[in-house]
This record gives sequence, C-alpha cells and structure tokens, in this order.
Amino acid sequence: MIIILLGPPGSGKGTSSSVICKKHNLFPLSTGDVLRERIKQPDEFGKHIAKLMSNGELISDEIINQLVKEIVESDKMKSEYDGILFDGYPRTVQQAEFLEKLLADNNQKVNHILLFNIADDAIVKRIVSRRVDRKTGNVYNLISNPPPENTDLELYQRADDKEEVILHRLEVYKKQTEPLIDFYRKNGVVGEVDATLPVEKMIVTANKILAE
Ligand code: AP5
Repeated sequence: MIIILLGPPGSGKGTSSSVICKKHNLFPLSTGDVLRERIKQPDEFGKHIAKLMSNGELISDEIINQLVKEIVESDKMKSEYDGILFDGYPRTVQQAEFLEKLLADNNQKVNHILLFNIADDAIVKRIVSRRVDRKTGNVYNLISNPPPENTDLELYQRADDKEEVILHRLEVYKKQTEPLIDFYRKNGVVGEVDATLPVEKMIVTANKILAE
C-alpha cells in the first residue's frame, strides 16, 4: 500500500505517520527526517541543505527525487515492508510527477492521500510549542503532549520552528505544495482529515479513510 500524507507544516503528519505505519507495516519515509539526518554531516552539501531548511525553503526537486528513488528501490524496502507512507513528499508538482513514474516503474501506485486540514493561526501556536528529543527523535508538544518530567530527555526546538520561519514555510506550502491537492483530486484518492481534532481522534479518522 502506498500512502501520502499531505498538509501544511505542523498539521500532524509526523504524529500520525508512526501509528499508521505500525498498523499497516509501512515504511515511514519522511524526507524532512532524512534531510535532518543528512545535515549531521558538516560537509558542504550538509551545510547547503541545513541553510535552506532553517530558512524554510525547499530543497531542489533533483536532490529530493534522487534520495527518494534510492529508498524506494532499496532491497530492504521490498523485502521487509508492505508499502510506504510518504510524509512531506511530494511537495511540488514536479516531485509528484516523478513519484508517479517511479511507482509505475516498480509496479506500484498511490492508494491513498490523507489531506490534513488546519488553519494557519492554529499551526503557528502548535509549531512554536513543538519539542523533539535529540536521543530518540520523539516529538512532544508543550501544550498538547507535554514531555514527561524528571527524565533525561534532551529536548530541542527545530531551527525552522521559530515563528518568522513558520510563516515563511506556510507561504511556501501554499505556493508550491497546495497545487498538489488538485493534482491528486483528479485521481479520486484524496481523503480529508480534520487535523484540529485531538491526536487520537485525528488518527481514528485517518484510519477510517484508509479502511474505506
Ligand atoms: P518536514 O520535516 O517535512 O516538515 P513539515 O512538512 O513542515 O512538517 P512538520 O514536521 O513541521 O509537521 P507535521 O505535520 O509532521 O506535524 P507534527 O506531527 O510534528 O520538512 C522540513 C523541511 O525539510 C522543509 O521546510 C524543507 O526545507 C525540507 N524538505 C522536506 N521534504 C522536502 C521535499 N519533499 N522537498 C523539498 N524540501 C523538503 O506535529 C506538530 C506539533 O503538533 C507536534 O508538537 C505535535 O505533538 C503536535 N500535534 C500533532 N497533532 C496534533 C493534534 N491533533 N492536536 C494537538 N497537537 C498536535
């Protein structure tokens, strides 16, 4: 099964991904996570990506598409999982066209798109409160999902989670990623998730769409 999570920054894609992937034995392919892992290498390429990300700009389609192709065609993917959940990819029409062909070349197609709907002001409040544990990668929220007290978590705030960068990421989303909604509506595979619901209800809604 191939699922794409589509929605603005902070709409709950990553939070939903881990639960859905466990339930359906899918590989969680978050291009944001892959890039955050890559920028730990402080070479020129890592620095180039880190700068774009902390400014809320997209990485070029060529770089992202190549990275996705390597993962989709890896042996591990084919032998251990029953599909892939894309979180944060595709993000441009060019990436979506590339993915269609890549999947077709591998005898696959997109089965479901989950579109996470939430207003901009709610997104800003949510993202400025996000904290990530450096050791486990677990994501918390100071308001909706506070980290446990008295633990040795190493919480940090993502460089792109500052208010001014979030506002720019929202602009980039509207300009470059929102056109994908119409692109995929033509295929009739878009299901809408109310991302303002509490996490558990949001995920129940997503799972209902996947079961239809
Ligand atoms: P990426 O990491 O993909 O970020 P994003 O798409 O902007 O999404 P986020 O990770 O910010 O949010 P999310 O929807 O996963 O929300 P979450 O579940 O964490 O991309 C980062 C950057 O990498 C891009 O800006 C770009 O530079 C680059 N990049 C990545 N992919 C690329 C591509 N394909 N092409 C080009 N460049 C690319 O939730 C957010 C917070 O809210 C958390 O604190 C969570 O606990 C809380 N929360 C979640 N759901 C709820 C709920 N229902 N109620 C209350 N709180 C909730």
